[in-house]
Order: sequence, then C-alpha cells, then structure tokens
Amino acid sequence: MQSFFNAWIVLALVILLPVLLSLRNPRGEPQSTSSSSFSDTSFGSVKLANTFPFEFNQRIRDGSNLEYDFYRDTCPQAEDIVRSAVTNIYFDHRDLSPSLLRLFFHDCFIQGCDASLLLEDNGDRNSSFEKQAIPNQTLKGFDKIDLIKEEVEQACPGVVSCADILALAARDSVLLAGGPFYPVLTGRRDSHQSFFVDATDQIPRPDDNITRTLHLFNLRGFNTRETVSLLGGHNIGRIGCDFIQQRLYNFQGTGQPDPSIPLDFLSQMRQNCPDDIKNISSTDKFSTFVISKPKHVHFNNKGMSYMQALSSAVSSGAAFDTHYYQSLLRGRGLLFADQQLMAEEKTARLVSAYASDDGSTFRMDFARVMLKLSNLDVLTGTQGQVRLNCSQLIGS
Ligand SMILES: *[C@@H]1O[C@H](CO)[C@@H](O)[C@H](O)[C@H]1NC(C)=O
Ligand SMILES: *[C@@H]1O[C@H](CO)[C@@H](O)[C@H](O)[C@H]1NC(C)=O
Ligand SMILES: *[C@@H]1O[C@H](CO)[C@@H](O)[C@H](O)[C@H]1NC(C)=O
Ligand SMILES: *[C@@H]1O[C@H](CO)[C@@H](O)[C@H](O)[C@H]1NC(C)=O
Ligand SMILES: *[C@@H]1O[C@H](CO)[C@@H](O)[C@H](O)[C@H]1NC(C)=O
Repeated sequence: MQSFFNAWIVLALVILLPVLLSLRNPRGEPQSTSSSSFSDTSFGSVKLANTFPFEFNQRIRDGSNLEYDFYRDTCPQAEDIVRSAVTNIYFDHRDLSPSLLRLFFHDCFIQGCDASLLLEDNGDRNSSFEKQAIPNQTLKGFDKIDLIKEEVEQACPGVVSCADILALAARDSVLLAGGPFYPVLTGRRDSHQSFFVDATDQIPRPDDNITRTLHLFNLRGFNTRETVSLLGGHNIGRIGCDFIQQRLYNFQGTGQPDPSIPLDFLSQMRQNCPDDIKNISSTDKFSTFVISKPKHVHFNNKGMSYMQALSSAVSSGAAFDTHYYQSLLRGRGLLFADQQLMAEEKTARLVSAYASDDGSTFRMDFARVMLKLSNLDVLTGTQGQVRLNCSQLIGS
C-alpha cells in the first residue's frame, strides 16, 4: 500500500510539472511542454499516455476530446482572466469555493459538464431547467460565473464556453480554499438545452442512504472510492439547516431525531438549527427545494459548517484536510447521507483510510476525482454552442 502511494506521488509530480511550468508563464503563451494535447505529452523519456494514472479521456457518452490549454491560440489569456477574477471575488466572498464546487458538481452530474445548469428559463419555452431543480443552497454563484464570463468576453468575444469557465473557476476556487491543484482540460461546449426531469431524480439528496448514494454515483461512472473522495468536497462550506432539520427533529417521519446521532452532537446541532420548520413533512420540504426558482430565494443565515461540527480535540489546519472524515468516524457527519458512509464496511474503510494520514491520500484522490468529474460527458468540436451570456441560449 505504502509503495503504491509513493509511486503515485512520483507520477503526480511528473505529470503536474508541465502544468506547473505553464502556470509560471503568466501570459499563458504556449510552451513546448504545454502546447500539445495533454494525453500525448511526452516528458523526458516518460510517455505519459501510457503511465498516466488518471483516466484522462472519460468516454461516457460520446467521448472527451478536451485538450490541455485549448484556448492557447484563440484566447491565450482566458485562464489567467478566470483565475484573477476568481481570486478577486474570493477575497470578498469566502463562500465562493463551496458555491462553485456545488454548481460545477450539479452541472456535471446532470448530462455532463455542459453549462446546462446555468441556463435560465426565459418564460416562453419548456421550463425544463436544471436551475429550478437544484436545492436552494446550491444556487449561489450563478452571478459570479456571469461576472467572470463578462471579463472573458471583453477579451475574447464568443470564444470561451461557459462550461469551461465553470470548470476552471471551480478548480481555482478549490485551490484558494486550500484544496489540491488538478489540471483542467478545456474545449467544452455549452449545451443547447437543460434537463429538468433528469435533474430532479438523479441528484444525490442529503437524506439518501448509502445504497442510493453509491448507486447514483455509479450511474455516472464513479466507483466507491471515487464517491467517498468526492463527498470530501463537504470539507468546505456550510450546510443550511433545511438540509438537516428532518434529521434533528423528525427523522423519517418518526417525530424523533436520527437515533444514530450522538447526544452531545445532537444538542450542538439543535442549538445551531432550532426547531422552527419541523412540521413540514419530508416530501413537501423536498418539493420546495425542487421547484424553487433561484430569483426568489432567501438565504437563511442559519446553518453549520463542518468545522463547527468538530470538537477542539481534532486539530485542523487547512480547510481541505481530513476533518470531514474524522467527524464521520466520530459519528458527527452533518448530513444523513454523509454519516451513511460509515454504514457500510467498504465505505467505512475508505473513510478511515482518508482520516488516518495528514490528508495527502484524500487530496490526491480528490484531485483525481475532480479531474474525472470535469471530463464527464462533455460536448466538444461542433457539438453545442459557445454562449455569450451563460444564462441565455444563442438564438433564443
Ligand atoms: C419540451 O421538451 C420536451 C423534451 O425536450 C419536448 O419533447 C417537448 O416537445 C417540449 N415542449 C415544448 C412545448 O417545447
Ligand atoms: C435506501 O433508499 C432506497 C430509496 O431511496 C430504498 O429503496 C432502500 O430500501 C433503502 N435501503 C436501506 C438499506 O435502507
Ligand atoms: C407543529 O405541529 C404540532 C402538532 O401537529 C402543533 O401542535 C404545533 O403547533 C405545530 N408547530 C408549528 C410551529 O406550526
Ligand atoms: C427555498 O426556496 C423556496 C421557494 O423560493 C423558499 O420558500 C424557501 O424558504 C427557500 N429555503 C431556504 C432555506 O432559503
Ligand atoms: C444575461 O442575460 C440576463 C437575462 O437572462 C441579463 O439579466 C443579463 O444582464 C445578461 N448579461 C449580459 C452580460 O448581457
């Protein structure tokens, strides 16, 4: 096991080096190591295509023809613009990272990373819009993507897709939040449509049990290990009380809290999330999430962060460390779906493994799974379109 991980680190260094080199080139001009398609890149005598441990071309529907630095000729400054816009926004809005991570996850999870999530119903079409199908708390960040897109449009009108902007912005914001770097390939195109019906029943829910969570991720090509590492994205951000109200006051309609919650943790959570909406039944409440429109959303200040959920006994330096997994080991997952990772042996073992080192195993796996997520079911070439305004189809 140990040597497996050592090999991993060496490989990752070899692979990331060309990327790091290109990052040092502030204008993003093509360089010999970064200008060719990533999967063809040779580095020294190592032929990466044969040794790369990530599955770069995740072909789920019709294949990913993404490239490293796709805009090197058409908009060489694109990635820099995204990075600096994300950085500027981040310093005023620390919740940017979880917001963008969730937006990106939801976009990719439903019909691939094609910015379909960003489309807004203009009233006169089919209202099959993903945006309306996502729980309220995930809806933050649309305006930030618009801001970033506007800056990119000023430099290179009509060139850089919203899907790529979202993928890059999510990566950059993860990095700002202390998360690992991972290379993002580009060349995604934006979808022609949105997918409301798919969205409602295929998005993992906070009250899903482990069987259903693994099933939904598996439908998207994620194995158990990848699922457990992707959920580690919950390391950052806050959970709205709505998501845990049922668990605290009326678990599965019993009128009682989830019996698996340790009592001291229950009272801590209840202090943060008082019982003011317990009377809403589970199904009514979820349907409120499902049909809510982003424009009318009121954000509740109540909520809990995963950091809060920990006692001071667990030290946690960076936000992107092992504290999510450590809290699960101690029965202190905020969401039912999170704590369910301890309910099956195969997932519980992974939780223990991620919790038991300095976070490097988790960070490595998280980088890897984010790369996979980023390439899920993308549109490329002449498919789709490049939207000018992320919330509006061209020609609508
Ligand atoms: C709504 O979308 C569905 C599926 O894309 C399509 O079959 C149907 O014709 C559309 N209805 C209208 C009124 O556009
Ligand atoms: C998990 O949830 C699904 C539906 O969401 C249900 O059919 C199944 O029985 C549940 N499994 C367990 C073990 O509770
Ligand atoms: C919740 O329901 C109970 C019993 O149905 C009722 O007595 C109570 O007043 C309700 N609470 C609120 C806040 O509506
Ligand atoms: C979610 O949206 C619905 C409909 O807009 C709203 O009634 C509800 O209060 C929102 N929930 C939160 C937590 O903001
Ligand atoms: C994009 O479209 C929305 C309407 O859906 C509009 O409010 C917004 O101003 C547009 N953005 C730009 C940059 O034109």
